[in-house]
Order: sequence, then structure tokens, then C-alpha cells
Amino acid sequence: MPVVIGVLRETVLNETRVAIVPEVATKFKTAGARVLIERGAGIQARFPDSLFTDAEFSDSAAILATANILLKVQPPSLDEVNALQPGALVVGYMQAYARADLVKALVARRVTSLSAELVPRISRAQSMDALSSQASVAGYKAVLIAANTLDKFLPMLTTAAGTIRPATVLVIGVGVAGLQAIATAKRLGAVVEAYDVRSATREQVKSLGAKFIETGVSAEGVGGYARELTAEEKSQQQEVLDARIAACDAVICTASVPGRAAPRIISKAAVERMKTGAIVVDIAAEQGGNCELTRAGETVIHGGVRILGPVNLPAQLPFHASEMYARNLFNLLKPALVKGELLIDWSDEVFAGCVLTHDGQIKHEATRKALDVLNASKG
Ligand code: NAI
Repeated sequence: MPVVIGVLRETVLNETRVAIVPEVATKFKTAGARVLIERGAGIQARFPDSLFTDAEFSDSAAILATANILLKVQPPSLDEVNALQPGALVVGYMQAYARADLVKALVARRVTSLSAELVPRISRAQSMDALSSQASVAGYKAVLIAANTLDKFLPMLTTAAGTIRPATVLVIGVGVAGLQAIATAKRLGAVVEAYDVRSATREQVKSLGAKFIETGVSAEGVGGYARELTAEEKSQQQEVLDARIAACDAVICTASVPGRAAPRIISKAAVERMKTGAIVVDIAAEQGGNCELTRAGETVIHGGVRILGPVNLPAQLPFHASEMYARNLFNLLKPALVKGELLIDWSDEVFAGCVLTHDGQIKHEATRKALDVLNASKG
């Protein structure tokens, strides 16, 4: 019997992405799987059912009862987990750090879960890295939001009505989203400056034609991530950055430290030094924001400055975000699809790294420890 891959319509508010696209359904079929999709699952991402020539369609209850592998964008609901067959596999964002209830349900139901956020960031796994693909979408979209919100042109224009000076965009945080933001702002003709605490980003910024802001602070953490800054480093960083923030037209905030609230980089006082009409697009809003005034999902007006805190930006570009995400999931699962059957090699560092639950146990060490602490504090 070929393995059955199920895909549901996402039900979380404002989630427009889908975990499979026609091209990927065909690839799964070629790999020997049967693909079963909830009717209309791809509609919001502009993938109507008619485009899926290599899939079958059904309702959610039938899919949950049949699927050996469930592909999700947002974490599965508790009802979904409890409707899966014990031993089934669910793959997608799990947000385990915030969803103790979900982790417990996965364990109790003996559902195996692979977490898209936990895929190791090694070269071999780049094509499976949903954090990167979706961050790239977010960085691009953040700049478009900035361009649309500003009352100015981004590029320099030489017109019969005189010369228009280009806008200055400052990108804070030069990870995957930040790099895409720099590239997008450059393409739109802005003057771009960027800053990150990891000195490795200096050359990346320059190679995109942007100016790297030197603060003298370097805070490389483990695994290519940043570490949290000391109070002294923060004030050193602040002095230089505040002056640059005051001079620019738009700040795109993307700075983040794994497992922590987003670092506070723009204070209320710094916003008060910004020009009238300037904007902050803070895509770290969901982790608390890089700006003190950010409110997730809202636009805050402070003096003449607008601070936007968009959430789930990839869902605002669902066609390509879904395409990239679905490819990431296929690339992750492909080695485990052997002649139409699911055979996961748990000694493979990619599967060992991203498995959250398996066989009635929490396999991800940090999640297990965090839940132990939570249980101990309740008890
Ligand atoms: P992230 O989303 O965790 O953070 C975004 C950026 O914020 C990072 O560049 C970080 O250094 C910066 N940041 C943190 N605190 C800051 C502060 N106080 N001020 C200014 N900037 C601050 O990072 P992301 O995008 O997930 O990438 C992290 C690293 O992982 C990068 O080195 C990236 O190249 C690497 N990576 C490796 C991959 C692979 O080899 N498969 C795939 C994707 C990323």
C-alpha cells in the first residue's frame, strides 16, 4: 500500500498558505505516494483544485483518518492530532516552545512530528529550510510595505520638475530576512544601510551594495546565530545606531535571537528623534519587536512617525511562500520515501534534529526540558 500524504486547508486566522502545490504533489506521486488534499485547500494561495492533476480530493475527516503523513503550515490543532492514526507523521511548524498542550497531545496519540523550525541549518539541509524560505518572503514584503507606506519615492529621480533625492532605508538584523530586505530596497533604488551584531554580515551587506554600520560591537553566538548583548555592548551599539535611525526614512527591523524575545534596538527616545513621515516596519513584532513602541498586528503613530508591526508576512505572498514551503517539505521527506513507503532513518542528523515527538516520547531535548520545568512549576 503506498503511503498516503494528507493536506488540509489551513484554519488559523489569516493563514493563506497551503502545505502542498501542484508541482510538489506530482513529485510525491512520482516517489510512489498517494496525495489526498482537502477540497479548496490551495484556493487562498491561488492553487485551485483543478491544477492538482496528481492528487485526489476529500474532506478533512477522511484525510485525517487515512493519512500516514499530514503536511501542515500552522501547527495541527488538538482535534486534528486526536483524529490522526497512532503512528502517523505530521510535518510543519510546531511552535513547540509555546504549545505544551500540542506536544502532550502528540505524545499521548503516539503521533510522530517533525518540526519545520528545527531542521538543522547545515549545508545539506538548505533546500529543506522553511525558516529561511519564509524569512526571505518576509524580508521582501517588509520593504514593499515600507515603499507603499512612505510618502516618498525610494529611488532618485531626475525629472522635469527637478531632482528627487532617494530615500534612505536602514535594515537592522542581517539574517535571511534582512539580506532579502537589503536586496529588495536596493532594487527599488533606495540608499541602503544595514547593521547586525554578527561581523560576518559586514561582507554580505557590502556585496549587496549597501553600507554596513560599524558600532564596534560583535556578538557571534553558537550555530551562526547572534547572542544576547551585555548592557555595555547595548549602550555602545545604541549610540551609533540612534544617529543613523534619526537620519533615515524607513527602518526595517529583522533582528532576532533564537529562543529569546526580540532584542530591543529602537527606543521611544530614538523614535522621537526620527524625521516626520519616517516609518519603522518591525517584522520582529511577533517576538515582541525590535522597537519599544511596536505592537504586533498594528500601526502605532508616535509624533510624525509610524511604526508598523506586521505579523505572518509570508501569508501576504501566499503563492510563492507556499511553493517554497511545499518544496522544503518535499526535500525533507524525499529521503524517507522508499518505493512508496515511509522509512525514516533516525540516525540521519536532519531527521534526528527536527523530530519533536516519536513513539510516545518527546525527542527534542530542549522542548522536553522546557516542559519538565513547566510541569514542575505547576506541581
Ligand atoms: P535570525 O532570524 O535568528 O536573526 C536575524 C538577524 O538578527 C541575525 O543575523 C542576527 O545576528 C541579528 N541580530 C540579533 N541580535 C541583534 C542585535 N542586537 N542587533 C542587530 N542584529 C541582531 O537569523 P536567521 O535569518 O535565521 O539566520 C541566522 C544565521 O543562520 C545566519 O548566519 C545565516 O546565514 C545562518 N543560516 C544558515 C543556513 C544553512 O546553512 N542551512 C540557512 C539559513 C541561515
